[in-house]
Amino acid sequence: MLDISKNSVSMAKHIFHQHIQSGDVVLDATCGRGKDTLFLAGLVGKYGQVYAMDIQVAAINSTYGLLKDKGLMDRVILIKDNHVNLLEHLHGVSPRAALFNLGYLPGGDKKIITRPDTTIEALNQTITFLAVGGWISIVFYTGHEGGREEYEAVSRYLAGLPQSLVTVMEWKYLNQLNHPPGLLLIHKVGEL
Ligand SMILES: C[S@@+](CC[C@H](N)C(=O)[O-])C[C@H]1O[C@@H](n2cnc3c(N)ncnc32)[C@H](O)[C@@H]1O
Repeated sequence: MLDISKNSVSMAKHIFHQHIQSGDVVLDATCGRGKDTLFLAGLVGKYGQVYAMDIQVAAINSTYGLLKDKGLMDRVILIKDNHVNLLEHLHGVSPRAALFNLGYLPGGDKKIITRPDTTIEALNQTITFLAVGGWISIVFYTGHEGGREEYEAVSRYLAGLPQSLVTVMEWKYLNQLNHPPGLLLIHKVGEL
């Protein structure tokens, strides 16, 4: 059982654990070092598929190395591209879940970060193509330059979405020190 009191990533994983099934197709929109991709690859099983995207070669290489080591690359499609182009790679497939872990690559260039306009555009596309009943998690960070602005812009966009399309939730840790990551959750309940 995942300990949801630990941090936002543990809560996001808890939700995905409940809702992703063997054989599902899911999207990791920011694969970074591959830890989240690895988690998703475990959930979808050998008949499932994880589309994993990142704009940096270093991230794609890290994710490839990790998944290859674990013998799970056969269920992962790695895509080095901006997630605003995700539809070009999904070829009409409706993912059951999508994960956005915002900010910069751990141990990488801190100037290469997710940005409000591209994050919102990628979320907009993901919400449109997500299967009804599906989930999106957005782990966000407010401790780096631009992080709080991105969180505020994304929250404003999500708060304006119709209730007949999605339910939007926020999960917060109120007494953790040093800008703990936060979590926005989207549950798709209908079509536009
Ligand atoms: C916090 S890291 C992700 C951590 C990752 N999920 C893991 O398990 O290691 C954020 C990642 O987003 C990537 N990124 C930033 N802007 C992007 C964009 N527009 N499209 C795709 N990836 C992007 C960065 O290169 C970085 O690797």
